[in-house]
Amino acid sequence: MAETAKIQVDGRTVELPVMRGTDGPAVVDIRKLYGDADVFTYDPGFTSTASCESKITFIDGDKGILLHRGYPIDQLAEKSSFLEVCYLLLHGELPTAGEFAQFEKNIIYHTMVHEQVDRFFQGFRRDAHPMAIMCGAVGAMSAFYHDSTDINDPEQRMISAHRLIAKMPTLAARAFKYSRGQPFVYPRNELSYAENFLRMCFSVPAEDWKPNPVLAKAMDRIFILHADHEQNASTSTVRLAGSSGANPFACIAAGIASLWGPKHGGANEEALNMLKEIGTVDRIPEFVQGVKDRRYLLMGFGHRVYKNYDPRATVMQKSCHEVLEAVGHQDDPLLQVAMELEKIALNDEFFVQRKLYPNVDFYSGITLRALGFPPEMFTVLFALARTVGWIAQWKEMIEDPSQKIGRPRQLYTGSPQRDYVAVDRR
Ligand code: ACO
Repeated sequence: MAETAKIQVDGRTVELPVMRGTDGPAVVDIRKLYGDADVFTYDPGFTSTASCESKITFIDGDKGILLHRGYPIDQLAEKSSFLEVCYLLLHGELPTAGEFAQFEKNIIYHTMVHEQVDRFFQGFRRDAHPMAIMCGAVGAMSAFYHDSTDINDPEQRMISAHRLIAKMPTLAARAFKYSRGQPFVYPRNELSYAENFLRMCFSVPAEDWKPNPVLAKAMDRIFILHADHEQNASTSTVRLAGSSGANPFACIAAGIASLWGPKHGGANEEALNMLKEIGTVDRIPEFVQGVKDRRYLLMGFGHRVYKNYDPRATVMQKSCHEVLEAVGHQDDPLLQVAMELEKIALNDEFFVQRKLYPNVDFYSGITLRALGFPPEMFTVLFALARTVGWIAQWKEMIEDPSQKIGRPRQLYTGSPQRDYVAVDRR
């Protein structure tokens, strides 16, 4: 017999189907609840609500597990490449050598942007935050690539996915170059995805960027770690925007806007600022006291889903050491502060009780700084990497026959109906 859950409300008992996924908790299907019982559920922040069915990413927050299409993140970070992970997220399986060669070519050969896009950048102030530029530039892509905005055509959906993955590094590098007052650098097809991006950021006409395999590998790994994370705020934003039938470029621009916030993708910038503010190891106890007094948060700590060590943080910490060594910054005082702060927090009752562990952003700021990026670029790099997750989730949603426009309900606590009062009688 099919499993059901019962709720009693207003003197009535309503039976609801229970759904089971491959893993994770059981899910009570409340879709018919309003029709059958005339009640809504209340769940601001979606702490107990599954908004969709998905086959892309699985997280067990208690155990600290993150799987993409079933593969653990540490194995992907160690053995795979970002473009292979992109293929996996989009298609559901790891590619054969032939499939990968074709996919890689599709991406590498579409990294250039329309020449007119470059003019678009000139409209921004030089001191504009690169995330502000990204919101605008990515949104503008729908004005340039009309031939891949028909969401009902599977081929156009895939072309828009390829275009976004391919062109995002070019746009991100341009946002960086523009803020520096340096000329834009065109992509080069013979370079890998990560190398191409680093060269577009750090090459200047007077001096070309010199490839460094350790730094390129670290960049690629950082992209893998940020590629997808199931139904977080920005991904849910992309799905909600896309549920109305909006084109993929506009949806990804919405995701970028959501990612920008300091509680989400903006946390890596905030985490580095925090480490700088603490400055030296001897100031940590005073800082930790401020967190306990609730004057501020420990940025790069805590997660809505992970109540254990974020598995991405483990890989990021390792990458951080590798990069600092490669650039000769192994004695970076901020690394000492971060490691000591982590040690203290992991043993302190306040953090233990609340299950607060380092998340991916705790070590990513130090790593990205060592790679040569200023803090305002950190969230841009996150957006670049997350684009594949957003577009894979968007595609899955469009291809789901049960997909409906997203439209939450509300608990109304405003004034009951009343009559309009003329201005002279108020
Ligand atoms: N520092 C101090 N206390 C914290 C922190 C933190 N970073 N995070 C949570 N808490 C405390 C809360 O004050 C709360 O305490 P209380 O129960 O005594 O009131 C308790 O832990 C539970 O926290 P919630 O806010 O309910 O947790 P929620 O799931 O809503 O928030 C979030 C998760 C937003 C990530 C939060 O931990 C946070 O703001 N962290 C800092 C920002 C950050 O690093 N964000 C990156 C997330 S990862 C990513 O987006 C890639």
